[in-house]
Amino acid sequence: MVLKISKRGQIPPFIVMDVLRAANRRQAEGKEVLHLELGQPATGAPAGVIAAAHQMLDSDLLGYTEAFGILSVRERISEYYAQLHDVSVDPERIIITTGSSGGFVLAFTAAFDVGDRVAIADPGYPGSRNILLGLGIEPVLVPTGPETRFQPTLELLDKIDGKLDGLIVASPSNPTGTMLDESELQALSDYCRDRGVRLISDEIYHGITYEQPGVSALRFDNNAVVINSFSKYFSMTGWRVGWMVVPTDLLRSIECLAQNLFISAPTLSQYGAGAAFDCTDELNANVARYAENRQILLSGLPVAGFDRLAPVDGAFYVYADISSLTNDSEIFCRRMLDETGVAATPGTDFDQGRGNAYVRFSFSGPTAVIAKAVERLQHWTAKTG
Ligand SMILES: Cc1ncc(COP(=O)(O)O)c(C=O)c1O
Repeated sequence: MVLKISKRGQIPPFIVMDVLRAANRRQAEGKEVLHLELGQPATGAPAGVIAAAHQMLDSDLLGYTEAFGILSVRERISEYYAQLHDVSVDPERIIITTGSSGGFVLAFTAAFDVGDRVAIADPGYPGSRNILLGLGIEPVLVPTGPETRFQPTLELLDKIDGKLDGLIVASPSNPTGTMLDESELQALSDYCRDRGVRLISDEIYHGITYEQPGVSALRFDNNAVVINSFSKYFSMTGWRVGWMVVPTDLLRSIECLAQNLFISAPTLSQYGAGAAFDCTDELNANVARYAENRQILLSGLPVAGFDRLAPVDGAFYVYADISSLTNDSEIFCRRMLDETGVAATPGTDFDQGRGNAYVRFSFSGPTAVIAKAVERLQHWTAKTG
């Protein structure tokens, strides 16, 4: 007898994980791999976080915390908003989550019902789109391109047929690294407020910016749901800890969902996260390394024939238009890995329609690896034409 399997899990894979598998296989055969596929810092958590975690391991029971997290950490996050964004956020509205991924699950489940429609830029982070799909919420893809720095605009939203229940923005974005400036974010925020559309602002790459600092949606609207994480700027991917700021109307729903789905975010990670805000020297040194890597790619990739690059305002990605080199980015990435050892992510992970014309290079790794990858690519394209 065939047993029932829910449609909920029948969502696209995260292709970058498939690339990682191929890269690891190559490494196991003793061949070199230059990892430019995964978007995670090459550094571990800062020393202050490790010290705080050691101290808590030795002294604390590390039981559950309340569902929204340790109050002193939520207060520290509130201070961060006052210091960096000049906005006052009641710690009661700050929720510590199991990474921003856990934040998405809680926010989407609390705010939207099955069949609701949520707009999201295409290309965009596959996790947001696929979590919506898994929950039976319709992602309404907003096709964006270089004309709008791959970000949604009022004009693009006006072209959507039918009512929207939500809009997700990500600035800086993954995969493009492009940002919304203050007036653009404000315009989108006003659009949402005027039409009763729930705004969800993914601010996970704040802190990793090269031209202007990231602007928080909280500057314009206390009703925005803001998602953030300790994974990127704070260099703590595997600690699985992030946070959300939520409007008061969603607080109780999210609390009930969090209690039942997760009980609480990992306690040791929460203590570590509380110490992360005092580690800015170390964290800013990481950002200086990303800036150096970015420069190496921006000057070296065009020489290798990757000459149509999205403006890298922030994050640690270069999104390259490779339509002059291939019409199949997955085959292209496989060949690139086989022939040069450089692992990168095909654009199809982020844009199922037009992604075959793009590849994403992540420059979160060590500078020597990025420099070597550029050199290899230059030789490769010189040889293959
Ligand atoms: C835009 C964006 N949002 C969310 C996430 C999820 O991160 P985490 O769950 O580690 O906080 C990522 C991870 O790459 C991302 O790029």
